[in-house]
Amino acid sequence: MPPRKANRLTDIVPRIRRQASLLRNFAYDYRRFTRASYLNGPSSRENRKAQIHLLAHMIEHGLSLRDPRPAFGMPKVAELCADTARYIDDFGLDASTEIAVKALVAYAAFNKATGGDIGTLGGTIAGLERRVEAARAEIFGGTEDVLADEVRQRASMDFLGFMDARHSVRQYADQPVAPQVIERAVRAAQQTPSSCNRQTCRAYVFTAKDDIARVLDFQEGHRGFGEQLGGLAIVTSNLSHWYAVGERYQGWIDGGMFAMTLALGLHAEGLGACMLNWSTTQDVDRAMRDFVGIPDDELVITMIGFGHMPESFKVPRSQRKPVGDVLHLSPPLPR
Ligand SMILES: Cc1cc2nc3c(=O)[nH]c(=O)nc-3n(C[C@H](O)[C@H](O)[C@H](O)COP(=O)(O)O)c2cc1C
Repeated sequence: MPPRKANRLTDIVPRIRRQASLLRNFAYDYRRFTRASYLNGPSSRENRKAQIHLLAHMIEHGLSLRDPRPAFGMPKVAELCADTARYIDDFGLDASTEIAVKALVAYAAFNKATGGDIGTLGGTIAGLERRVEAARAEIFGGTEDVLADEVRQRASMDFLGFMDARHSVRQYADQPVAPQVIERAVRAAQQTPSSCNRQTCRAYVFTAKDDIARVLDFQEGHRGFGEQLGGLAIVTSNLSHWYAVGERYQGWIDGGMFAMTLALGLHAEGLGACMLNWSTTQDVDRAMRDFVGIPDDELVITMIGFGHMPESFKVPRSQRKPVGDVLHLSPPLPR
């Protein structure tokens, strides 16, 4: 059949409407990013926490390299000392300051051992350490020594088989999901890498049927199985942790990775799960966040439905493309 001749007016109006809607939605993302991030310096508590995590990570990163240069990164270390002291003055001790101080103490110890001249920073760090003597024992910072053999042993599994056995599950048994199982999956998701270890993600999890149904009212994509779910997670990423223009999409990336690990964590716990897209417009996004109480500085990345699987059920085959379409191994570069 020959292509339909464009009826200019009837085609052009919806096209303009779509473009305008796209622009309005970009403007929504832009406004929220500029409001929450700290392009012009940290102001909110969350921004200041993010900056502390960023600088502490820089130290841990430096210390974990093969041959760190004694007294490396002193201006950033001084900045971390000052930011941490000010933060403690304003908000007291919390997990972020404790992590920062542990990283600083590891930095001072490294320089002591290697003869790095860090001037007055040694005294400043010791002062900060005294302030957090009450730090909780379970919070660690700095570096740890790791044996490759131990990593291999603990990671040893048939990962390809584990992944092959994962499906987006759209049939569920009528059986509640225990909170401990959800907590284990979330703890696994917390091990997801995050940009400079800023750990911006959260999971809001519902398990009561009525709550699941009311939250799902905002989502399109659960038809035929939403009412069977034993749990529903909303994964978010906090925008207050980003400070550079280049980071404008980092929340989506960190959030997407966290969501994937959470889905795999649920899979590892023997549950079925299905990502439920949050490909929505600003009005629905705002309405759902207001309903659930998700603050304006948190990006909703995706929802994940989950629950116990029935003993036997069908899934789409979802055949993957040939690996050669995906893997371009050592593609030639220009000489
Ligand atoms: C971000 C994201 C959002 C998704 N949203 C939905 C959804 O709303 N409803 C649904 O039934 N499946 C959803 N899926 C599942 C995909 O359809 C599924 O992953 C894909 O078809 C491959 O199948 P598999 O997961 O079984 O391998 C989503 C997947 C992703 C990654």
